[in-house]
Amino acid sequence: MKVLITGSSKGIGRAVAILFIEKGYAVYGIDICEDTIRHRNYTHYISDVADAATLPDIPDVAILVNNAGVQGSGRDIEVNLKGAINCTEKYGIQPLISSIVNIASVSAHNGAEFPEYAASKGGLLAYTKNAAKRVAVYGATCNSISPGGVLTDLNLPVMNDTEKWGKIMDMTPLRKWATPEEIAGWIYFLAVTNKSMTGQDVLVDNGEIINHTFVW
Ligand SMILES: NC(=O)c1ccc[n+]([C@@H]2O[C@H](COP(=O)([O-])OP(=O)(O)OC[C@H]3O[C@@H](n4cnc5c(N)ncnc54)[C@H](O)[C@@H]3O)[C@@H](O)[C@H]2O)c1
Repeated sequence: MKVLITGSSKGIGRAVAILFIEKGYAVYGIDICEDTIRHRNYTHYISDVADAATLPDIPDVAILVNNAGVQGSGRDIEVNLKGAINCTEKYGIQPLISSIVNIASVSAHNGAEFPEYAASKGGLLAYTKNAAKRVAVYGATCNSISPGGVLTDLNLPVMNDTEKWGKIMDMTPLRKWATPEEIAGWIYFLAVTNKSMTGQDVLVDNGEIINHTFVW
């Protein structure tokens, strides 16, 4: 079974690729960077998800994970939202598709973080529902996951700053961030174990969204 993961060179995407390889799938990765995984069941393409015209031809994808993302880049909407749409339209809307998982963010729900980042992820939740209805005719599901903070390079500016990190932990009820491997496990569940939930989003955020102050 063919699995395609975008943004597979680092962070969450890399952890997802490794998990699916371990489970015995034929894994394909797309990234603007070189591959960081060497395995007989892994094929890497260097390509920009925002550029629909140059995406490689990969027929018969069964599982698509739209993970490639940037934040505060000036291209957040182009990469995070348009990139996921480009890949879904090219690889996902076809009879052999079995599931699609889009990586959104807690900021899609609370509007936090960079303005265009929040908008890109909010748009992804709406597009997930649109695509879910269209792949349902093939018996396939399409869902999204909204992680809170995850320990990846995307967040190095705050992970390496003791003061900022302390503030973030004070605002996070479970006082920790998720590992890429934990998020990969959730993505695997949504893509493989799940057969009946579609068009939905799962928040995995260590309680960021429930952090509010009760005034009485
Ligand atoms: N890390 C977090 O705290 C967090 C939280 C919520 C959501 N997310 C989302 O999870 C996804 C993965 O984030 P991460 O933390 O693993 O980031 P990361 O920076 O560690 O990895 C992102 C990967 O995407 C690739 N990429 C970037 N632009 C691309 C493009 N145009 N085309 C193809 N590949 C491209 C990068 O080269 C990199 O390999 C992103 O969509 C991000 O918005 C991350």
